[in-house]
Amino acid sequence: RNTPKAIIVIFGATGDLANRKLYPSLYRLYRNGKLSGNFAVVGVARRPLTNEEFRNNVKDSIAVFKDDLIDHEEFASHFHYNPFDAQHLSHYHDLDAFITKLDKIHDAGGNRLFYMAMAPNFFGPIAANLKSQGLTDNKGWSRLVIEKPFGRNFDTAQQLNEQIGQTFSEEQIYRIDHYLGKQMIQNIEIVRFANAMFEPLWNNQYIANVQITSSEILGVEERGRYYDESGALRDMVQNHILQMISLLAMEPPAKLHPDEVRYEKAKVLRSLRPLDESNVDQYFVRGQYGDGKMNGVQVDSYRSSNGVAENSNTETFVAGKFMIDNFRWAGVPFYIRTGKRMAKKSTEIVVQFKDLPINLYKDKGNVIDPNLLVIRVQPDEGITMHLNAKKTDYETLSTPITMHYDKSIAEEVESPEAYEVLLNDCLNGDSTSFVHSEEVSLSWNFVDQISKAWAAKKADFPNYASGTNGPKAADELLAADGFHWWDID
Ligand code: BG6
Repeated sequence: RNTPKAIIVIFGATGDLANRKLYPSLYRLYRNGKLSGNFAVVGVARRPLTNEEFRNNVKDSIAVFKDDLIDHEEFASHFHYNPFDAQHLSHYHDLDAFITKLDKIHDAGGNRLFYMAMAPNFFGPIAANLKSQGLTDNKGWSRLVIEKPFGRNFDTAQQLNEQIGQTFSEEQIYRIDHYLGKQMIQNIEIVRFANAMFEPLWNNQYIANVQITSSEILGVEERGRYYDESGALRDMVQNHILQMISLLAMEPPAKLHPDEVRYEKAKVLRSLRPLDESNVDQYFVRGQYGDGKMNGVQVDSYRSSNGVAENSNTETFVAGKFMIDNFRWAGVPFYIRTGKRMAKKSTEIVVQFKDLPINLYKDKGNVIDPNLLVIRVQPDEGITMHLNAKKTDYETLSTPITMHYDKSIAEEVESPEAYEVLLNDCLNGDSTSFVHSEEVSLSWNFVDQISKAWAAKKADFPNYASGTNGPKAADELLAADGFHWWDID
């Protein structure tokens, strides 16, 4: 890949996402030679900042990289501020002229990347104005990056797709799901499709169930207002969790092309066994944290958080069972659980293989566990295989053993941040790790049935204490099928 040329326009340039994720990611791309001199960032937001103030913000956000040889001042000189009111059409004209000017200075090839790092109600109107005011009539490419939430249900997601679709074609739209930028999520595909040991077994003949756990220690912190309207189902399951399921369950794509991969992922979503209000409770469990102890410190309940209604019916935990009714997966449950204020911060995928037809090692002294393939997404990154082998003894006794691959030890390089990977892909026009509109629609379509069922019935909240792994019903969900969660450290 040649280093891309572009003017990157960030709407919401003074916000949390820009400061915490986007500037450090751009910096690391620059430091690692993935961005050359031919780029500039236009920071767009309401606040009247000077260029100097803006660049100071950018420098603050990259201050942690102080040991690098890169001159932070020089990097920050690529950043320009443009105060902006999204409702003023004249501001779009000024922005257009500004981008054109910077393009000349930086020789950016006439390419424009518009990044919406702001409240979602602006996505549609800004996209429309970009077109009507001629900002997308540039001579190079133009791309739109948008953040979640992509709507809050099927209908609003459709509306948003239609709105932005008036200006940008599907190929130009890059919908971010930051889980798709994580190294071990990207690894799912390689583990599956580059190993003769796994792909032949990757089906309902050999796999008993798949488990995905994405747990967090933090509560809602300062995001109560957003979260209370959203809940864990919309915040995590509709996007991150369903994306992981798609990657784990998809058929091998014909080639590694964005359309092929995303087509296969969408097919998984189309094969999900649909739920309705009458059976949601058999498949999904919701929870909300009460107070409790985290690391010995007493913490408050969800309902007493800032911005949260004191009788809130919003779930901070979801466990569920997805059935994929196709030839490959018929009968294999995909269990998921995700929540706030759980015992630890971790994302892990466990593939549990079926037991062998006969167990020769069932006499006293033998221990046999099912084979597991564990993909450790975070905090540590790696793969663990759980096998059975001979115990050191005079007799032939079996015992469970593990084989570990630790990414950081094996490669001795620091993993790039998800945003860094995704920004790099977008600048290079690779949308494989971005979400297609069809995936958005299909996943909302599924999730909406659960939301509807839950909205119709008040929950008995809070039902799990902070610092635990969710309500008991989450364990019962698996127990009913003769399984249990593998809590693996
Ligand atoms: C975000 C959610 O999309 O993902 C947050 O809005 C959640 O509520 C976060 O905390 C989890 O991401 P990660 O990368 O920390 O697992």
